[in-house]
Amino acid sequence: MLQNLKPNFCFLPLIISVQCLLVIVFGIDHYNRGDFPPGFVFGAGTSAYQVEGAAFEDGRTPSIWDTFAHAGFSGGANGDIACDLYHKYKNDVQLMVDIGLEAYRFSISWSRLIPGGTGPVNPKGLQFYNNYIDELISHGIQPHVTLFHSDLPQALEDEYGGWLSRKIVKDFTAYAEVCFKEFGDRVMYWTTINEANVYAIGGYDNGFTPPGRCSPPFGVNCSRGNSSTEPYMAVHNMLLAHSSAMKLYRRNYKSTQHGFVGFNIYSMWCVPYTNASADVIAAQRANEFFIGWIMNPFIFGDYPSIMKKAAGKRIPTFTKYEAKLVKGSVDFIGLNHYTTVSVKGRPSSIEKHSKDFNADMEADFSLAVLAADQYPVIPSGLYELLEYLKEAYGNLPIYIQENGQKSLRNGTLNDMPRIEYLHAYIGSILDAVRNGSNTRGYFVWSFLDGLELLGGYVPSYGLYYVDLDDKELRRYPKHSAYWYANFLKGKSSRNDAIFQAADKLPIYKS
Ligand code: FCB
Repeated sequence: MLQNLKPNFCFLPLIISVQCLLVIVFGIDHYNRGDFPPGFVFGAGTSAYQVEGAAFEDGRTPSIWDTFAHAGFSGGANGDIACDLYHKYKNDVQLMVDIGLEAYRFSISWSRLIPGGTGPVNPKGLQFYNNYIDELISHGIQPHVTLFHSDLPQALEDEYGGWLSRKIVKDFTAYAEVCFKEFGDRVMYWTTINEANVYAIGGYDNGFTPPGRCSPPFGVNCSRGNSSTEPYMAVHNMLLAHSSAMKLYRRNYKSTQHGFVGFNIYSMWCVPYTNASADVIAAQRANEFFIGWIMNPFIFGDYPSIMKKAAGKRIPTFTKYEAKLVKGSVDFIGLNHYTTVSVKGRPSSIEKHSKDFNADMEADFSLAVLAADQYPVIPSGLYELLEYLKEAYGNLPIYIQENGQKSLRNGTLNDMPRIEYLHAYIGSILDAVRNGSNTRGYFVWSFLDGLELLGGYVPSYGLYYVDLDDKELRRYPKHSAYWYANFLKGKSSRNDAIFQAADKLPIYKS
């Protein structure tokens, strides 16, 4: 479908003026696919609950995300059917081929593969992921698999409090082992946990995301939890679970499968709200809290000292054995980056109550930008983030595992703001790579318009629009899909064809 575009020169004046605008606004250079180093991969991604559907089929049991959504928190929507990728994966892989994706990032639903969270493997779940992976490989698309993307089996949450309990380490490692053993002959890139930092803050400090725990005055409707301690405990157990799975991979699978195991961080770049020194210090602390919380244990075997000082006994201590296990336990870091936020200093003296993560950090974020209909386009923030990781943590391999622009799902396929965003951010990665960053891959979030954790089906990120009013849930390529396809085919990122072809694109709903 994407190949059939023919240039239409009537659009030339429009093309020229739009391009001039882009150059002025973003200072964008021309670049193309071939400017990236050999081995750099481009793809797109989704996660299991956001697109699979078939939530009650073939033995799958609910995850904490199902529970959260059914309690009305995902904008009143749920993933029972979602994009029905479970049944449509062959069609979807063909759409990936149409764009020319080189790699695809998706997650496995733990409760589809092991319905009890622990114990027997579900043969139908196994069959589905085998088929899905085979379909990708047979079309030359490299699978990048995440094991945990916010969807812990509800059974484990009920049994022992999920990530709050040390018991999760054993169960997560056993789940990872099933995946390595069953899929590792074909999957080379594993990410154990998605956005551990934000999962902990959303799930245990402000209660905005599953499992929705918090304590007053920090969250909304807090009926159970402890915002002062639980986020730190959850991250600690995630780091231990990851390292334990990595140890197993290195011991039993690495020499035959030759794959790589990484960990994902939600990484907004934090800049000071004003030049005042309180704000400058707050932005530095915020970056250290957000990124150092995860990176310091992996690189140095301990949490940043400012975090330990601020949180005192509330942040767990690594035993010598644990520190050794965690340190060096990543082959790469996955970053989810959407935008840059400004940060204001918050004097520690203002806390009347017990402290939470924000209070420990002594910083407040301008989080309104994350809730807006579109993200501010600040590609220099991603460049600075990559520079920071290079300088502070020894230039580990990095994959940008999520980056993309939000829009409202309004039926139009014309998503020029998404094209401008992708163009600007991919350009900033190229700049960072040219300056020595070890970034090795890039995945657009997202391939399809799926269920979003906070807004349900209202916000959309997809290269493909999914018509939820159509029983067939038909997919339609947005302009950004054409732009990405042309870029991946080697055309210039300031790709005239996308503008020339605008009148050929189907406008599904006006
Ligand atoms: C990230 C999540 C991803 C998606 C994007 C918009 O935090 O990892 O699943 O919802 O936000």
